[in-house]
Amino acid sequence: MCGIVGYIGNKKASPILINGLLKLEYRGYDSAGISTIEKTGLSTMKDKGRVKNLYNLPEIDNLEGTIGIAHTRWATHGKPSKENAHPHMDNTKTFSVVHNGIVENFNELKKLLCDNGYTFYSQTDTEIIPNLIDYYYKKETDNDDLKFLRAVKNACNSLKGSFALEIICKDYPDNMIVVRKDSPLVIGKGNGENYISSDIPAMLSYTKEFYLLNDLEYVVLSKDDAKFYNNNLEPINKEIKLIDWNASSAEKGEFEDYMLKEIYEQPKAIRETIGSRINKNSKCEFEELNFTKDYLQGLNKIYFVACGTAMHVGLAGKDMIEKLCKIPTEVDIASEFRYRDPLIDEKTLCIFISQSGETADTLAALKLSKECGAKTLAITNVIGSSITREADYSIYTHAGPEIAVASTKAYTSQVVLVAMLAIYFAETLELSAEKTTLLNSLKEELLVLPKKVQKTLETSTEIKNFAKRIYKEKDIFFLGRGIDETVAKEASLKLKEISYIHSDSYPAGELKHGPIALIENDVTVISIMTDHKLVKKTVSNIQEVISRGAKTLIVTNQQIDTDMFDMVIRIPETSTFISPILSIIPLQLLAYFTSKEKGLDVDKPRNLAKSVTVE
Ligand code: G6P
Repeated sequence: MCGIVGYIGNKKASPILINGLLKLEYRGYDSAGISTIEKTGLSTMKDKGRVKNLYNLPEIDNLEGTIGIAHTRWATHGKPSKENAHPHMDNTKTFSVVHNGIVENFNELKKLLCDNGYTFYSQTDTEIIPNLIDYYYKKETDNDDLKFLRAVKNACNSLKGSFALEIICKDYPDNMIVVRKDSPLVIGKGNGENYISSDIPAMLSYTKEFYLLNDLEYVVLSKDDAKFYNNNLEPINKEIKLIDWNASSAEKGEFEDYMLKEIYEQPKAIRETIGSRINKNSKCEFEELNFTKDYLQGLNKIYFVACGTAMHVGLAGKDMIEKLCKIPTEVDIASEFRYRDPLIDEKTLCIFISQSGETADTLAALKLSKECGAKTLAITNVIGSSITREADYSIYTHAGPEIAVASTKAYTSQVVLVAMLAIYFAETLELSAEKTTLLNSLKEELLVLPKKVQKTLETSTEIKNFAKRIYKEKDIFFLGRGIDETVAKEASLKLKEISYIHSDSYPAGELKHGPIALIENDVTVISIMTDHKLVKKTVSNIQEVISRGAKTLIVTNQQIDTDMFDMVIRIPETSTFISPILSIIPLQLLAYFTSKEKGLDVDKPRNLAKSVTVE
């Protein structure tokens, strides 16, 4: 949530900051602002709405400063408005601050500051921070180089909650301080300049060299230096990490929207995620993992914990691990898992799936699992993200940056990675010969998957036509059984996220226990049928809705009588374990085209953000 950008160097900061904000808008887009250090002191401009409102401000061109901070907001405390937009300044206009996160104890701190004569002009928790820094700054007796840093550190030590902060001070016109706790922030190293951002893609066109910060590490930046300190303000060393994503992978290119581009990138993302981990005649390899047969045999349970789309990957993972490895597996939503005293111990393996590696609830659930003694494994798309730095083990999808809020290529790449993990576990467990044959055929299926994904993308024209028929609807239902029900859930989420049509998914067999009451003439029901053992049962359920007037779209790779349905989308056959990777594609396209028909902003749906870094 909220995008943060900063620049310190020799160039005019404002165009770099605006460009960075535009690239980070997927993190939040209800207001935006910028502060630079000018010859006359700090200058701040902000406005409600999208970043374009900010760059359309005529005064923005007057900013000449070469040091600046900027922010695009996803409102938590206080409605979207100019007053509540960041950056926020202290009463004396000495400090300017942008903040991502939540200050949980802001009422107490506000009282302390009010008692000391401070006044507040916004409803945000953030406005506490520059004033708290000022409060400590004024208490400083030594006027040395570290005065600014000490004041920031004392303020941060009083904050409860999460924060990623950029701070500039009019008394230190050549410096910027940044610090983070449970909220993402990276520093990109340029030549005689430094870039700061909450996400790597925003800075890829400037640098590929990044410093990744741990919690409560402070950085004092100047244009050609970055000095790192721990929470005791002792200097520490930081290594540079080279990020091999190229800048064009974070651009739209010839596509109208990021989401469409990312849907079409799936064959490549899957191919790169498979990499060299799978070969026909050898065991599946994960050089990052060293699980032994004894360890896996001793597990009482595997847990998949995640949010949103990533949680739907866990559902596919449960099916694979239980069927291939015979290890009981549970799936939980991170925000629920944390508060229900999960039954986990040192014999539990907890697997956290997160595209961004920054989702606050997933990160907190990971920390809880470690406290309970469980081993933790992270599956993410972002090298060096917070979740990977906390987990005992990390394995990566190689999907490249995903910018559209609605996740597509991350989902399919994650399902591929989880399938390979299940194969790796099963091979380590040395199960029966019959299982070996099954695993070998699954590996062969995975190797040909990118081609089948390419083929599935050819359903686009038919899907676009169907979108034209349904885009005005109010309710749409998705049905499936077994693995297809997990896809129904993901398809329903995709559609509601970006088309704002209410949709729901159900196990097809559950229909008669309630949802069928909602079926009336012309209601759309979409069903996925890829499991030959269950297809007849699902067809019967769909007949029941057709008898009540529903119009139907079927996504299938099975032999079915197509006459009774309004539209049947054929996808290539594959193993049921990995069929979600193919069956979701027409339904991603359906969500996309429906949103386009409605004239909506596909990439930045209302109220949502790509990376949810608050609980
Ligand atoms: C947000 C995004 C979803 C995503 C979820 C989990 O809600 O809009 O697309 O599935 O967060 O994100 P993660 O980065 O942890 O996979």
